[in-house]
Amino acid sequence: MKVLILVLAYAFLGAEASSSRHQWKQFKSNFGVRYENLAEERHRYQIFQDNLRKIEEHNARYQLGLETYYMGWIKVKVTMKVLILVLAYAFLGAEASSSRHQWKQFKSNFGVRYENLAEERHRYQIFQDNLRKIEEHNARYQLGLETYYMGVNQFSDMTQREFGQMLRGKGVAALNRTPAARPARRLHKQGRDDFDWEDKGAVLDVGDQGDCQAGWAFSATGALEGLSIIKMGFGYQLSAQQLVDCAVPEGGSCADGDIETAFKYVIANGLTRQADYPYTGVKGKCNATKESFVTAKTIVKGINTEDDLERAMFSHGPVSAYIDGEPLHQYQGGVFQSKACSMNETRLTHGVLVVGYGFDDSIDMVFWNVKNSWGENWGEQGYVKILKNTNMCGIGKKALFPNL
Ligand SMILES: *[C@@H]1O[C@H](CO)[C@@H](O)[C@H](O)[C@H]1NC(C)=O
Ligand SMILES: *[C@@H]1O[C@H](CO)[C@@H](O)[C@H](O)[C@H]1NC(C)=O
Repeated sequence: MKVLILVLAYAFLGAEASSSRHQWKQFKSNFGVRYENLAEERHRYQIFQDNLRKIEEHNARYQLGLETYYMGWIKVKVTMKVLILVLAYAFLGAEASSSRHQWKQFKSNFGVRYENLAEERHRYQIFQDNLRKIEEHNARYQLGLETYYMGVNQFSDMTQREFGQMLRGKGVAALNRTPAARPARRLHKQGRDDFDWEDKGAVLDVGDQGDCQAGWAFSATGALEGLSIIKMGFGYQLSAQQLVDCAVPEGGSCADGDIETAFKYVIANGLTRQADYPYTGVKGKCNATKESFVTAKTIVKGINTEDDLERAMFSHGPVSAYIDGEPLHQYQGGVFQSKACSMNETRLTHGVLVVGYGFDDSIDMVFWNVKNSWGENWGEQGYVKILKNTNMCGIGKKALFPNL
């Protein structure tokens, strides 16, 4: 039995005095319900009254804090015949105890600590706002009104604005947290068809930049890893830390680097393996004492259309690109598209790696498969699918890759 939820309306919170007959009229008019005959209508009215009583009783308990969600009317269509059901829906009302529980889980999952109670209260408030946004967005996703879904991640105690500022290296990151424990990486993802360097073994593990805004460095190491695997048949995870320490001048911060400078550094100095120069997530002094694993010869830049990006990725390997990362704040899966995602050059500050493209036939959409550097817990095991052919988030506007 396939159930299609058509309309979600009328939460009954605080609905008291109005008679059931009045509500019945309102219900019929709101949902354009007609019955074949009077007997059927009487029968349905009886059911409606029963449900109404159930809703009111439940919501009274909700008011007293004994329930975590409230009930309302819903119209549900079962195949051809319209039936009227009233369902419990864990949606807007699912606050109080549930959000406190999720907050605890969030803090424990991501090892988050706050300096004082005032800060914790403030962050909890933001977390609740984000939770509401996620729930509302995902309800729309369930109804087929969105093509991607959201979820709680390590950024859920920040506002989107703060998140954007952090990405651009503008402070904020005074959120005292220890690195998250990570689950094992799911090695093979299904449903990524068409063309993907990941399937060809040319993409290594997802990095986690932490509070160090070094998306550019992970984008660069990803491109170099891919190209070295394609060229030599094997490769290693390369050192993003070396780029942070050595391609950014002393006194600079993680956010002061960029992909092109990283490639230039590699052309001049080579790059060692991550195992020999591990990631610390803070800008340190350059200490490149170990042997380089790769060097590069030239940089191909100026890729500024999605067609060129596709050609470059197809014929060379994974390609580095800049996107507007801010709207990806709570992304968890599906094909990302949002009006809030800018393609204005000034917003294209977050470095990522374009590793493939595919087609999602459930929503009839093509997407780029993009490797990010916010850990494997973020998005789809560290990846995001970005809608293709609309320059979503500016993905095709500012891409580049090196030649080895
Ligand atoms: C530099 O790296 C080497 C290992 O490659 C290490 O033994 C040494 O202590 C490091 N020096 C500094 C100053 O961190
Ligand atoms: C891009 O953003 C900048 C700064 O916000 C603005 O001045 C510029 O007009 C924008 N460009 C376009 C093409 O919208």
